[in-house]
Parts: sequence; structure tokens; C-alpha cells
Amino acid sequence: MNTPFESLKHKLTHSQQTWLITGVAGFIGSNLLETLLKLNQKVIGLDNFSTGFQHNLDEVQSLVSNEQWSNFRFIEGDIRNLNTCHEACKGVDYVLHQAALGSVPRSINDPITTNQSNIDGFLNMLVAARDANVKNFVYAASSSTYGDHPALPKVEDRIGKPLSPYAVTKLVNELYADVFARTYNFKIIGLRYFNVFGPRQNPDGAYAAVIPKWTASMLKGEPVYINGDGETSRDFCFIANAVQANLLAACVENEEARNQVYNVAVGDRTTLNVLFSTLKSELLRHGIAPNTQPNYRDFRVGDVRHSQADVSKAKSLLGYEPTHRLAQGVKLAMTWYIKHKQ
Ligand SMILES: NC(=O)c1ccc[n+]([C@@H]2O[C@H](COP(=O)([O-])OP(=O)(O)OC[C@H]3O[C@@H](n4cnc5c(N)ncnc54)[C@H](O)[C@@H]3O)[C@@H](O)[C@H]2O)c1
Repeated sequence: MNTPFESLKHKLTHSQQTWLITGVAGFIGSNLLETLLKLNQKVIGLDNFSTGFQHNLDEVQSLVSNEQWSNFRFIEGDIRNLNTCHEACKGVDYVLHQAALGSVPRSINDPITTNQSNIDGFLNMLVAARDANVKNFVYAASSSTYGDHPALPKVEDRIGKPLSPYAVTKLVNELYADVFARTYNFKIIGLRYFNVFGPRQNPDGAYAAVIPKWTASMLKGEPVYINGDGETSRDFCFIANAVQANLLAACVENEEARNQVYNVAVGDRTTLNVLFSTLKSELLRHGIAPNTQPNYRDFRVGDVRHSQADVSKAKSLLGYEPTHRLAQGVKLAMTWYIKHKQ
């Protein structure tokens, strides 16, 4: 029997919709773009290249047909500009709002810039999408919203206090989303991503996420640093699962499923020590022996100690069925990183 996602993809190939992806040149945005173009959808993409790259868009172009690529229109612009948001939302059916400045440490070093993109920019997008009467607005929320709440696994309605400026911005997004739903009858869904990883996630720079950062270090024979004792845990979510959640959320018809937030993860919990061994073994499978042991250093300020999602809400209301657990995702991601290593 077809899964809800298979059925949706089938339906979409027979009905062309117009989508707006903000943050389209980034990791998650460019993967959404690839999937939607392959389903013959029309896509408008908005990005200011602050942390995204033209080479992500070029790679998507190389993976789709010329005809599919001709369904894509790119706007280089900033969500901090309301006019740009209005321009991007014209004629759009569904918005997948990904543009934001990620990274807890970045937000600690520069809370003002993070606030501008993640809160001012978010509000601009809400106003523009409301004015354009879009059918549904799906946005990137974050597991950081669970903050200091100790319960595991994380259930959507039990959150603690945010532990970083970044987490504050993602919580404020949820508050605005709820108010827009109630006040303007705006159709909106938030997806609390848990450590998404996969092809095109940037391995470089001080704010890189753990999987691409460690992979790049191992490939270059550079030291790998573990913040803390390595027993910090995360629910690592392969990008295909996040893409699936976005499309299901955008097209959901069940009213009860709207104006909600959902965990997007697998439901597994992996410690950083286990992640280190998993990446190392995967490289060995490719005949690459990373000559490296982890170096332990201090815990990082603002980091949540343990994270694991309960994904039953997304399963029951959206029909979400994660297809990739950590090991399967690492296989695919590693192949990509080896191919793209400089
Ligand atoms: N990757 C994860 O594990 C994860 C986890 C939780 C939440 N998120 C959220 O998912 C979204 C996408 O994250 P990602 O991992 O793809 O990061 P990314 O940095 O690769 O992508 C973000 C994109 O947004 C663009 N952008 C940022 N500010 C902008 C602005 N003011 N105007 C226009 N474009 C702007 C960047 O240039 C970039 O292309 C973000 O909202 C992030 O907070 C990601």
C-alpha cells in the first residue's frame, strides 16, 4: 500500500502548484527545491546568500531536467525587507519558510542579527503570505524550543525555557504563528526540526553542524572535537524525512492538523560518542581510515543536553513516516561528502 507521502507525490505530479521556498540556497531549502522540481512543481526561491550558496542551486539544476529547471524563479533578496516578501509571495499557493540564521553559538555571539532575520524577517513573511492569501504556510521551527525541559522524549506541548537567543527566536515564531492563525484565520504549521543532516549541509565555518563538521575534519585528517563528555544525545534526522514532513504539512487537508507544531525527527537518541564511531565506520567502509580519535573539550554554552523526539503527532495528523534512520542517512550523506571533498 502507498504511504501518505507516496500518494501525495503522485497527486502533485498531476497538479502543478506554485511554491515559495525562502532560504532556498541553503541546505534544507535546496533539498526542498530538488524534490519539488522533480515533481514538476513551480517554485519561487528567495535567499540573500547569507549562509546559502549559489553552488547549492547549481547542483539542483544539474539533478533536474531543463524543463523542470525552467519552473524555477530565483529572487535574490532579504526577508528583512517587507516589499521583497510581498513580491515573492505573489501568486503563491504554498510557502515553505526556511530562511533564518541557524546556530546557537552564532546567536550568542550576535543576537541582534539573528533576531532581525529570525523574528523581523519571519513577521514580514507572515504579513506578506497573509496578504497574498496563500493556502498554507509551513515554517522551520526548532527542537531548541524545548530548552531546559528535562522530559524525554520531547512531546510538542511540554516545553521549557529557551537556552539561547536562537531558541528565543524560534519560540517567538511559534507565538506569532499561533496569533496569526487565530487573528487572521491564517493557515500555518510549524515543524520543529531535530538536527537535520544530509547532502549540501555546509561543513565549513565556525557554525557548521556536527555531522558535516566532523565528516569534513575526518576526511582532511584534522582533529575532531567533542563538546563535553560525548554523552550528549540527539535525534538526528536525515533530510529526506524533513522534506517529507514539509510537503505533507503544506498539503494537509485535515483542519485539525492546521495551526499546530510538529516534531520532525526519527524518534531515536544517539550520543555524540556513538555518532563519532558511526561516521568513522562509514568512512572505513569507503576504504578511508580516518587517523583520528575524538578530543574532548568543555561543554558548549546554550546546548541542550539530551534530545529525542516523540513523532507520534506528525505520524497521526500528517501521515509522516520517517524513511531514514541515522545509519541509512549517514551512508547517503557520506557518499555525497566524499564526492564533494575539496
Ligand atoms: N539544519 C538543522 O538541523 C535545523 C534544525 C532546526 C531548525 N532549523 C531551521 O531550518 C531552517 C533551514 O536551516 P538550514 O539548516 O537549511 O540552514 P542554512 O543556513 O543552510 O539555510 C538557511 C538559508 O536562509 C538564508 N537566509 C538567512 N537569512 C536570510 C534573510 N534575512 N533573507 C533571505 N534569506 C536568508 C541563508 O542564506 C540560507 O540559504 C532555518 O530556519 C533553521 O533555523 C534547521
